[in-house]
Amino acid sequence: MEKAIIGGTGVYDAGDGYSKKVKTKYGEVELDILNIDGEEIIFLPRHGKGHSVPPHLINYRANMMALREIGVKYIYSTAAVGSCNDKYEPGDVVVIKDFLDFTKSRPVTFFEGGDESVKHVDMSDPYCRNLREKFYATAKEQGLSIKGDAVYVCTEGPRFETAQEINMFKKMGGDVVGMTSVPEVVLAKELGMCYATVGIISNWCTGVKEEITLHDIQGTIEKNKEKITDIFIKIFQQ
Ligand code: HPA
Repeated sequence: MEKAIIGGTGVYDAGDGYSKKVKTKYGEVELDILNIDGEEIIFLPRHGKGHSVPPHLINYRANMMALREIGVKYIYSTAAVGSCNDKYEPGDVVVIKDFLDFTKSRPVTFFEGGDESVKHVDMSDPYCRNLREKFYATAKEQGLSIKGDAVYVCTEGPRFETAQEINMFKKMGGDVVGMTSVPEVVLAKELGMCYATVGIISNWCTGVKEEITLHDIQGTIEKNKEKITDIFIKIFQQ
């Protein structure tokens, strides 16, 4: 089982399948195994079924280790994000190409010293270039318009940002803001898995335009989620 989809906010399934529990050193993870035209593709809802785990409490290490242990090499994920770049409006789809890390209290690595040698993982291409390019190409074939590449600012949450924080992120080159890409992308890299994220813009960030509501966020994701997961599956079948 080499291919997996991690569903972010609003993306809680990608087809029918059976569930499988995987035990890791960091905890147990329940994965959905989908059978798509004879091929098994793994689906993991990042926040748990029914969105019960907040971003700062997700067991990222268990999730990523479970995927690795089951044999995963390629991961596509979705992320609901706010936009602080005028170019990207609610409803738009972007491909995440880099991140700025503003998390504060999460385990961010598998490397914890002890007997292990010190490892510093390379971050020059945190989101797999190959998977990103394939997403662009297949989205075009399937008629899904992608607005462009985006720099993801990862905040700790679960609160939204202040208007001044958003001003700062804009000045630093951030395009979109979410609460989950770090450490997920970093842990994938540490385990040698190719990982990419497609951002669905669900709202304007604080202070950019109107106020944010969870209702708006879920509505905009609804419109895009099936098309995006279908594209992931098409790529996995190539
Ligand atoms: N900020 C942080 N995380 C988010 C947002 C936001 O505006 N929208 C969706 N996830």
